[in-house]
Formats: sequence, structure tokens, C-alpha cells
Amino acid sequence: MTIHDLDTPSIIVNLDVMESNLKRMADYCRKHNLNLRPHSKTHKSPDVARMQIAQGFPGITCAKVGEAEVMVENGVLDILIAYPVVGDIKVRRLCSLAKKAKIAVALDSVEAAEGIAREAARRGVTIDILAEINVGMNRVGVETPGLLVVLAEKINRMKGLRLRGIACYPGQLFFPPPEQKKPLRQLGELITDLRARFRAKGLDERWVSAGSTPTAYQSHWSPGITEIRPGMYPFNDRNMLGADICTLDQCALHVMTTVVSTAVNKRAMMDGGSKTFSSDRFIPDGPKAAPTFGTIRDDEKIIFYGMSEEHGHLDLSKSKTRLKIGQRLRVLPNHVCPTVNLHERMYAVRGEKVVATWEIKCRAKIQ
Ligand SMILES: Cc1ncc(COP(=O)(O)O)c(C=O)c1O
Repeated sequence: MTIHDLDTPSIIVNLDVMESNLKRMADYCRKHNLNLRPHSKTHKSPDVARMQIAQGFPGITCAKVGEAEVMVENGVLDILIAYPVVGDIKVRRLCSLAKKAKIAVALDSVEAAEGIAREAARRGVTIDILAEINVGMNRVGVETPGLLVVLAEKINRMKGLRLRGIACYPGQLFFPPPEQKKPLRQLGELITDLRARFRAKGLDERWVSAGSTPTAYQSHWSPGITEIRPGMYPFNDRNMLGADICTLDQCALHVMTTVVSTAVNKRAMMDGGSKTFSSDRFIPDGPKAAPTFGTIRDDEKIIFYGMSEEHGHLDLSKSKTRLKIGQRLRVLPNHVCPTVNLHERMYAVRGEKVVATWEIKCRAKIQ
């Protein structure tokens, strides 16, 4: 089968590029003595998770219990849920998973910890816990080192839980690597201080999980971190490219679409809109710029300026290309993670040959 036998819209992954991205990240982590625990929210596919594990690091990250359930069913057995697991229903599922696999959770409240501890103690399982601190993303994580130590001491006393260390997510550092030096050094100082405070109280601090794709290759600027959780690096996307975090040669994934209408002057419509690409903006343009939703790799002068649910609106006024009905286009999406979540499968190709089909089994597993 070749890409010409595939219907559109379809996600196409250049396997050579993805394999090189996987290897490069694993080599970096080995060189700097870091554990690599890729965030699977990007690909949501046990097939890709297994390829990541084959690079020599056994664990992955999930956001939701539902994703972890699918991964465990498919033989991925070492998972950090980097998201507070709250509520009896989820906690029961979490403890069932802990009977089958190594499961850890990052959380930032006594309430979340107590909920898990109660059920874990009742079921006779032990859940590993990382106490989470906010390092500037302002999303989750307690606000100060003192509060983190207080939380960690409480977790440490709860039956059913085993405090293992610290989690954080520097997702706000979304800019070119040279500009990350100062904030990543500051993060390293914070982590070093936190670890010393934990040690002084006899708390386990040997697992420090951080990291994102933009900061991944600079993680050694934050001494004290022991693990990174990049998600997007197997594929990269237009936002990564636009922020100078990867090169075009390192972008492994595109969406293949078909031109379905050229009836309107200087416009064309392709067969993928907001149900194919997600509406995430191109971050480097800033919030005030007119939105664009992807790069047309066949001709970057074609502007993907709008979306209906099933129409991608293309502006041809700056392009010399004369698009024809039925012509296929390759689109680099703004943000790869929500794009993948909209599709049922990805096609891995070498050249034009389709060499594997990966079901996106964790798509829509939001619970
Ligand atoms: C908690 C957490 N860790 C790791 C990641 C992965 O980072 P990135 O998306 O930059 O690859 C994310 C992404 O949202 C995240 O939320």
C-alpha cells in the first residue's frame, strides 16, 4: 500500500524522521543520566509508546486514568499519571490498575492524596506519589517550597501511598533554547533547594520529574532533575518549528488532505477543518495576529486562514500554485496533540510506502 491508496484526511508519519527523533532524545537522556518518561498524550498510541520504550527507558506518562488503562491493556506497564486523580470513581480504577502495573501519580493536595490513600489501603495496594510544585505554568502545583514539604510530610504518613519525590512542569518556557538558560538555571536552584529540604526531613526525593519538549535538550541546565517527560518530540509541529525548537527536517507528521472546491475566486477548500486539525492557534504569531491553522508544505504561500468543521479555508492570493480539485496537500498542524486526538489512526510511511498503521487507542480517553 502507498499513500495514494489512502483516503483523506489522514495522518501521515514519516517513520525515518520519527525514529531519528526518538533516538536523539533517548541518546540525550543517556548522556545526561536522565530518565526519559515520554508523555503519551501526544500520540495516544500503544504502538508508539512501545517504540519509545524500545529506546531503553521502560516508563511513559499519561494524563488520564483512561489513557493509562488502555496502555496497560496493551502491555505498557510503568506509568506516571502526571495529573491529580480526584474522585472515587477514578480512584477505584487507579487502584485496579496498580494491581496490574507500576503506577505513580503526581498531585498537589492533601484531598487528592487522602482519596487515593483510603482506597489503596482498603485494596491492599501501594501507589507511588510525586508531590507537585508550581514552577511558573500556574496550572497545578503548590506555590512554595515550604508548602511542598508540608504536603510531602502528610503524604509520607498516609498508609497506601509511598512518597517518591517531586514533580513540576515548566510548560511556560515556550521559546528558543538560548533564552531558556536563565529560567532553567533558576529551576535547577529551586529543585536543589527542595531536595535538600526533603532530605533534611527524611523524605524521599530521589525521583524528580519535569520537562517538556521545548526544554528537553536543555534539561541539564536544571541540575537535580532526574527525569523528563517530553510529549511532542516524536512528531514536532508548526508551533515547535515556529519557536525554533525543531527544524523542518525534524517534523515527522503531517495531515494529508484533498482539495474539494476551487469555486470561489482566490480561495480553495480542503477536506479538513476543525474536526481534523483542532483550533489551536499558531503561538509564535502572538494573540493579536489573524489566526492561521497550519503550514501547507507543498506551497507555504497558500495560507490556511480559516476552518469550518469539515472545510479548511485556503487563501491563494499570494501563491502561484493553481490548485486542482482532487489534488492532495500536506499540512503541518499547529499543535500535534489535539490533532492526533481527532483521528482514529496514523499511517507510518517510508517514502510513499505505508509500512505500519497505528490505532490511536487512547483518543478521547478523557476520564
Ligand atoms: C504535565 C505534563 N508533562 C509533560 C508534558 C509534555 O510536554 P510537551 O507537550 O511540551 O511535549 C505536558 C504537556 O502538556 C504536561 O502537561
